[in-house]
Amino acid sequence: MCGITGIVSLNRGDIGRILVECGYKLTYRGYDSVGVAAVHNGVVDLRKDVGTMDEVDVRLGLSEMLGNRGITQLRWATYGAPTKVNAQPHFGCDETFYGAHNGNIHNYHEYKQELIETGHIIRSENDGELCVHAVDKYYEETQDMLEAVRLSTRDLKGAFAFAVGRSDAQEIYAVKMGSSLVAGIGNDETIVSSDLPSVLPVTSNVIYLQDGEMLKLTPHEVTVYRIEDGKVLDRPSQISDVDPNAAEKGGFPHFMLKEINEQPVVAQDVLGLLEGSKLEEWLRMIEEASNVYLVACGSSHNAGIVGTYYFNRLAGTPIIHAIGGQFEPMYGNTLEEDSLCILVSQSGETKDILNVLNLVRKNNLGKTLGVLNVVGSTLMFNSDSYIPMGCGYEVSVPATKTYFSQTIIFSYLAARLGMRNGKIDESEGKMFLNALRNDLPRLTQETIDHAGILAKNLARTMMDVDDLYCLGYGFTDGVAKEGALKIKEICYNHCEGMYSSEFKHGPLSIVTDQYPVIFVTTPEDSWMVINHINEVSCRGGRTIIVGEREDSLEPYVANEIDYLHVPKSDLLINPILDVIPLQLLSYFLSVDLGINPDQPRNLSKTLTVD
Ligand code: BG6
Repeated sequence: MCGITGIVSLNRGDIGRILVECGYKLTYRGYDSVGVAAVHNGVVDLRKDVGTMDEVDVRLGLSEMLGNRGITQLRWATYGAPTKVNAQPHFGCDETFYGAHNGNIHNYHEYKQELIETGHIIRSENDGELCVHAVDKYYEETQDMLEAVRLSTRDLKGAFAFAVGRSDAQEIYAVKMGSSLVAGIGNDETIVSSDLPSVLPVTSNVIYLQDGEMLKLTPHEVTVYRIEDGKVLDRPSQISDVDPNAAEKGGFPHFMLKEINEQPVVAQDVLGLLEGSKLEEWLRMIEEASNVYLVACGSSHNAGIVGTYYFNRLAGTPIIHAIGGQFEPMYGNTLEEDSLCILVSQSGETKDILNVLNLVRKNNLGKTLGVLNVVGSTLMFNSDSYIPMGCGYEVSVPATKTYFSQTIIFSYLAARLGMRNGKIDESEGKMFLNALRNDLPRLTQETIDHAGILAKNLARTMMDVDDLYCLGYGFTDGVAKEGALKIKEICYNHCEGMYSSEFKHGPLSIVTDQYPVIFVTTPEDSWMVINHINEVSCRGGRTIIVGEREDSLEPYVANEIDYLHVPKSDLLINPILDVIPLQLLSYFLSVDLGINPDQPRNLSKTLTVD
């Protein structure tokens, strides 16, 4: 995924500075390369290179670029290696047109050939360059920029958003065709960007766009058009209440540690949101469905696995969980018109999830219930209903507070559902909901405080570990998979998350003296997990345990440092807390290894590509 930002200003002469400030807020969308195209006195100054915004800014003086309008782009490479020539923005045939995109142009190779055969000079291997040439092509034919931008989308296939301008005209145009785009109206300047944090340094007065729409920016207004027929659409702006400093570290060394520490507040906020108005609608959607699928990717999928256990235990509701890219080939033919797909995506823009959304909507195969964090996202606008995760922006590429919020949402919905269908009695349900409301925020803080020290010490003993397993059982199945994903994402270790009873059916062969295996458990399941621990420890494996302190487990850790314990809690609260030591362990190990956990190599916060 990538990030684009375009600004048109009446009074600024140093457009580079604000473009870099706004662009910097999109770092989590990609940091393979960065570029700025700034227009000064009718000439486009284009500077771009591999590296992060900070690195390229220092190297090429991006912040010093002059002009009153321009576009910046941060790239996560898909088409074309992360090189200088493939960095964005791009020119068209000459240095008149400039622009950048986010997303994928699926007909890249065919269209590139078609453009070359009609005389276009294509400089890079990056599909974003074709967006600029497509506009260039239709401008030649129509001499009308609005029409040229509109017609260009007919040639471009795929899911994308792009921004484009001309050296000799002040307007910047942008298109939303499957990737996120939001605009803003400031004082004598307007802005368009892939994401809200990048708009906020200029204005909180924002306009959310929908797919199939395009816009024209002038210093004083944002005009929205329907691409299909060029009709002007009435799209009032709205004031965003997202904190402009949300994309700041707040004194923490990394966003990841800040966002882990925000989890107590997230617990309070999300429970407040769940008590809100649409709970009845969400519960009814689940109750009335013939089949309920839960589809997600990455950490959101791991949270969904945890949710499946809650729906089983508290509501007796079977949930079929699948990863986004797997859903259509695995379950596509089982969908019926009364199915429900719970689509979980903190960004609301993950292409693998939007593909499922489109499959359901285009074939009228039931309803969709989004679980999302980013207001104004494609998933928000296009699902039948959505549950807000209320986490505030999550900037760090590895998910933490958003995963945490999702597990709370699923446990809450399951309890409410179980109380309605009688799977659990009213008193049991109320006891659990009270524990969520009254104990979870406090217990979350206690776990962070307590496990932080333990995790930091344990991390130091794992510096030379490059291969390990993380096993869970029952409710901690998804928790262990999430812990393994964190270690893979930010420590670059191979850590496989697996169901602990499955480990003996083959993977156990990996265990040799001191081979590390993490067991994530709860007091409810430790009687079973002890069998699986024994299978490892009797073969000399190093057992690391995450869970409440239990006497029965003490003998299985060679030394105290290998036991990351969490405070005692209600049985069914514990699985929500058990992820915290794993978040902290991966964080401290990543930092000890000299890695920046916020921007792990090769990754991006949201993958808006297939
Ligand atoms: C990956 C991120 O790209 O997408 C993960 O690196 C994330 O952290 C996954 O869990 C799914 O993202 P989303 O926005 O669909 O929840």
